[in-house]
Amino acid sequence: MGFSEEVRGAAETIRCAESVSVISHIDADGISSEAIIRTAITRAGVPVTSHFVRQLEPLTMKAVPEDDSLKVFVDLGAGQQNLLEERGLKPEEVLILDHHVAQPCDVPYQQVNGVPHGFTRLSAAGVAYFVARELDPANVDLAKVAIVGNVGDMMARETLGLVGPAAEIVQDGVAHGSVRLVKKDLNCYGTSTRPVHVCLSYNDDPRIPGITNDVRGAERFLQRVGVPQKTRDGRHRVWEELEQDEKKAITSALVQQLLANGEGVDRLFAETYLFVDECERSPLRNASEFATLLNACGRWAKPRIGSSVCCGDRGRVYREAEYMLNNHRTIIRELLQFILETGVTELSHLQYLHVGDRYPDTIIGIGAGMALGKLNWRKPILIMCTLPEDPSLTKVSMRTNEWSVRRGVDLQAVLTIASGEYGGGGGGHPIAAGAFIPREVEEVFVSRVNELLRDQLS
Ligand code: C5P
Repeated sequence: MGFSEEVRGAAETIRCAESVSVISHIDADGISSEAIIRTAITRAGVPVTSHFVRQLEPLTMKAVPEDDSLKVFVDLGAGQQNLLEERGLKPEEVLILDHHVAQPCDVPYQQVNGVPHGFTRLSAAGVAYFVARELDPANVDLAKVAIVGNVGDMMARETLGLVGPAAEIVQDGVAHGSVRLVKKDLNCYGTSTRPVHVCLSYNDDPRIPGITNDVRGAERFLQRVGVPQKTRDGRHRVWEELEQDEKKAITSALVQQLLANGEGVDRLFAETYLFVDECERSPLRNASEFATLLNACGRWAKPRIGSSVCCGDRGRVYREAEYMLNNHRTIIRELLQFILETGVTELSHLQYLHVGDRYPDTIIGIGAGMALGKLNWRKPILIMCTLPEDPSLTKVSMRTNEWSVRRGVDLQAVLTIASGEYGGGGGGHPIAAGAFIPREVEEVFVSRVNELLRDQLS
């Protein structure tokens, strides 16, 4: 069966359902997927309820209601079909909309997944969007939310823009009028909300000597280029509001600076997706910052707030989401400070640190990613923490950068192999991955990860 047939089949299953329970994941892709499919199901006149889980595992299976509803699993399920089978779910009561590699299963659960069709850069929000559009072409207004999910799940990162079916969603959003595609924008996070010099100094893809990790250096650079950093009323300007000729002056100077340092310039530019119906300088204004807001909600156990924002809530709930985002940033800054002050242990191919129970497992990966740029950025970083709810388990988060990925590092492979060998489990992406392992194997596990990284780089 082709991907389009799977999409048509899923829409038909939803249309025929008496009621639906959506089970989704708490990250940006899971939250946006849930918002898309719940909205489309509601618009189709079918009663629907939603349930969020951190991960689909035996303990969280209790979130799946024991009733006659159609269970629609989004952004999870493909890799956990054994759990559905163990629970006794019949094929006719399950629909999986996912983008993770499917696990072989004796029960033929209905599934829409781009991966078997070669669409490896289409996240669950993209899959949910195609089903929603099949249910009703008027659902193209949800393209924007699907772009947030895809970008949030790093579908655009390596390729510097969304590709394949995900690019079709961008075209839908542009045609609908809610999305502006900027084809060759600065490849930098925070272009809608951060002062330009901060934006430039936080960026490490590509690393720009004298600017990356150097706020003062970035300020001096802008002065040299002659671009005013503040508005007349003294407010810092953001990249999005600069004039075209100012953007051109900055990128030309960045190209020169990279070339002068013998660095490639290919990663300086990327596609960005702006949402013209959102307020300027708001975190909802572009896809990657919108995704951070959703992650902040999900990682602090409030995925429903993120979902309401995806569905258009800009009142009290949105203010709560903004609070979540600010709180998220404050604690991440604290975590970053903790990592830098405590220091990491360096092995030949890895640097690592255990933060104990000081920070929740949902954010240590983000802290690891931020710390990497300030530590030895050539070595992947691994952060561990204990899980207060289960002291026998340790959560592991790893982060690296495009520089290492281009040289062969694949953290997803490393953590899947190493955690599997010690009775744990993990996954993710080449650049960012996570795992759970038994607490007593921490030390040998870290050595094994170091060994696997060495093999990847040899
Ligand atoms: O938790 P963390 O932010 O480190 O997760 C990074 C990536 O690894 C995410 O894509 C997450 O879904 C994935 N992951 C996983 N299995 C785990 C933990 C994380 O697939 N046990």
